[in-house]
Amino acid sequence: MKKIIGMVILFLLLASQAQAISEGENLANEKCGSCHLMGQITKEKLNRMAAPPYWILGKKVKAVSKNEEEAVNFIVDYVYNPSEDKMLFPKETKERFGLMPSLKGIVTEDELRSIAKYILDNASK
Ligand code: HEC
Repeated sequence: MKKIIGMVILFLLLASQAQAISEGENLANEKCGSCHLMGQITKEKLNRMAAPPYWILGKKVKAVSKNEEEAVNFIVDYVYNPSEDKMLFPKETKERFGLMPSLKGIVTEDELRSIAKYILDNASK
């Protein structure tokens, strides 16, 4: 009996995790994908790319963060309060795309946390 309960709990945990991952991905596409290249690369997306792709974002943020919590916090802070002195990208990025506008009121902090996890989990190595 214990074994069955254990398996049911494990299954529920796995199912909720899978849910969280796809939720982060959907939100990232919806809230960030209009500028950043998100998900699958298509020619159409490349043509309208208005900001660096997500796997480069993730890599940059990871490089300056001690752990995942710090990386998530950096992304949350940047999306609400972007500024030139926090920018991790070189000045050429700003010259090409401009500074990111704040998304205050467009994305909630909870949404942002699951987006940030998705970006970090799928960053290039
Ligand atoms: C209106 C266009 C636009 C949207 C929407 C957008 N971004 Fe950006 N983002 C940019 C641009 C342009 C840059 C590059 C310049 C900069 O770093 O500010 C950027 C840079 C970033 C950076 C790098 C910060 C750094 O230190 O240089 C992060 C992290 C980021 N975006 C996260 C997000 C997330 C997460 C979302 C969705 C919730 C999002 N962005 C939505 C335009 C956008």
